[in-house]
Amino acid sequence: MARLSAPELGRLLEQCRFHNQQVNITGVLLHDGSRFLGVLEGAPEAVAAVFSRIEADCRHTGVQVLADGPISHRQFACWTMGLVDDVSQPGGVGGEAIPCMHTVTDAGLWLLLREFQVGAGHPLLSLPG
Ligand SMILES: Cc1cc2nc3c(=O)[nH]c(=O)nc-3n(C[C@H](O)[C@H](O)[C@H](O)COP(=O)(O)O)c2cc1C
Repeated sequence: MARLSAPELGRLLEQCRFHNQQVNITGVLLHDGSRFLGVLEGAPEAVAAVFSRIEADCRHTGVQVLADGPISHRQFACWTMGLVDDVSQPGGVGGEAIPCMHTVTDAGLWLLLREFQVGAGHPLLSLPG
């Protein structure tokens, strides 16, 4: 993936928040400078529609679905989309994502989020447990 500049990341975040709010999608987007890990929560048809737009986005390649299925409740109910940007910048583009990590109670999702950070060499978010 081509590196996105801070303004480009900001624009991406705005797009996500705007669109997701309209269709009641919540989630989080992590970014480590070269990869993204995103979580989308919402009605299956809304998630599918957003995901097909994301898949077609030429700003990234190699999009993979790591997990898909019903959930009992949202893990990021208060968030349209948060972004944890590169390295040890809790501020990032949308540093407000950090507190929302504390709401993650789903074990599988928690592991995915944690692995992404550790793989990036930046275990900067204090996830529960
Ligand atoms: C890593 C990544 C994650 C994205 N996540 C979302 C998202 O959650 N919701 C969304 O509406 N668009 C997301 N987008 C942007 C979409 O791919 C698309 O550009 C945007 O929805 C605007 O689509 P439109 O030009 O068809 O209106 C993401 C893009 C990237 C590169």
